[in-house]
Amino acid sequence: MTILTVASTPFPGQRPGTSGLRKKVTVFRQVGYLENFVQSVFDTLGDCSGKTLVLGGDGRFHNRAAVHTILRMAAAHGFAKTLVGQGGILSTPAVSCVIRKHGALGGIVLSASHNPGGPDGDFGIKYNIGNGGPAPEQVTEAIYRHTESITRYRISDGADVNLNRLGADRIEQMQVEVIDPVSDYAGLMQDLFDFDAIRALFAGGFRMCFDGMGAVSGPYATTILEGMLGAPAGSVINGVPLEDFGGHHPDPNPVNAAELIALMAGADAPDFGAASDGDGDRNMIVGRRFDVTPSDSLAILAANAGVAPGYRAGLKGIARSMPTSRAADRVAAALGVPCYETPTGWKFFGTLLDAGKATLCGEESYGTGSDHIREKDGLWAVLFWLNLLAATGKPVRQLVEEHWARFGRNYYSRHDYEAIDSAAANALMAALRERLAGLAGQTLGAYTVDFADDFAYTDPVDGAVSTQQGVRVVMRDGSRVVFRLSGTGTDGATLRVYLERYEADPAQHHLPTQQALAGLVAVAEQLAGIAARTGRASPSVIT
Ligand code: G6P
Ligand code: ZN
Repeated sequence: MTILTVASTPFPGQRPGTSGLRKKVTVFRQVGYLENFVQSVFDTLGDCSGKTLVLGGDGRFHNRAAVHTILRMAAAHGFAKTLVGQGGILSTPAVSCVIRKHGALGGIVLSASHNPGGPDGDFGIKYNIGNGGPAPEQVTEAIYRHTESITRYRISDGADVNLNRLGADRIEQMQVEVIDPVSDYAGLMQDLFDFDAIRALFAGGFRMCFDGMGAVSGPYATTILEGMLGAPAGSVINGVPLEDFGGHHPDPNPVNAAELIALMAGADAPDFGAASDGDGDRNMIVGRRFDVTPSDSLAILAANAGVAPGYRAGLKGIARSMPTSRAADRVAAALGVPCYETPTGWKFFGTLLDAGKATLCGEESYGTGSDHIREKDGLWAVLFWLNLLAATGKPVRQLVEEHWARFGRNYYSRHDYEAIDSAAANALMAALRERLAGLAGQTLGAYTVDFADDFAYTDPVDGAVSTQQGVRVVMRDGSRVVFRLSGTGTDGATLRVYLERYEADPAQHHLPTQQALAGLVAVAEQLAGIAARTGRASPSVIT
């Protein structure tokens, strides 16, 4: 075996976005494209000798080829050991768990999360640091700078290892350990949740459906739900990871998880439904004929955290991204703990979790998690709900309605305008920013603006400042409209409009969500001129 130094030149645009570098598979398959990025990661890390790396992905098209390339490059950079999931598979939360459990220097996740897979779909790569979480912006920016001036990469010409067989192999001096992708993660879940109570729930005839959407969470769900907890065989559907996700768009929301939603609306609906995304870090929770919004899910788990053994000691704090509804804030206030408001992106929770300031975190984009790892965690949220359902014996709908009765309801919806022209999207945001200063006190429809700003965040732990994180217009009654451009798309720009209205009166808790928010939708259009600027009369996705 020989370590080769291969001359290379920069590819433009290798700057990681909200969650790593995501591009079309066709872009990633260019000679040297992946290699340049990985070399830039290793150059940023410095001396890797003697260290351990974790490596795996969501099984999408190009996953295996990329794993083999990265293993040969890791070997060329002196890593002592790489832990790689069998078949090249590791969910994002499992990577985080394995990094932490084995004290690795960091890990590489191969995923474009919920973006479509297949030869014409997307691919992605993300570096996670030693705490198990996504690299902070200083690190991703340093990686990007390296990609701009790269002249060579280093790679072993060793043969591909057998990724299907558990156990040790070797490339150069590096040990390659092919690990079971599920076992470390399953052990952690067992420590956090009351598996006996959940087992008893299933033994009593409780039925659920978990939709793996042809992506990575299937094996985890099958082992834990059907294997360890005794859910009936067939409780997990679409449970085998496929290179094209079986044609699914593995982004768990009521639009994409149509099969699950139809099942939960049917006459023979099971008691509980859930779905996860491409790389297993998102979750959607569904009751019988009842969808739970991610913002409500965070608030409800926080209010009931004591049911789970891992959280019995209480919460240190709660954190949510700015566009996430403020339902969790009310729970935090009732618990007497702080509630942090961060920019969109799970990476912003890392410092708060490391510093012990927050225990639970959540985002409106179907992400929920805690300090057990440093990524959001789809199956963790499902198990938390199962623990709650087992502890209370109440159906999902009742738990949510009781929560609203106690705390009030934050009506919430996100309207996405996908794949719009980037220049038009930027112009829309620029025009909004220009109007901000004059908005306070203005009347818009039935609302009067309390304040309007472009959200900026100073990390309370490391002092890092992030600006331009979304335009928010907050009304005197606490209602809000937030405008942001997505940082994860690969096709033009995606405008996200987040709408929130607080309703304290239980008699008003049962309106259809879009009806309850219609006044704010009109305000959003009035403020931003979405139809005229984007040519779209209505959103492409409503969640
Ligand atoms: C990823 C990130 C999340 C983020 C979501 C939406 O899943 O991990 O933290 O909320 O993308 O981001 P976007 O920029 O597309 O709104
Ligand atoms: Zn994901």
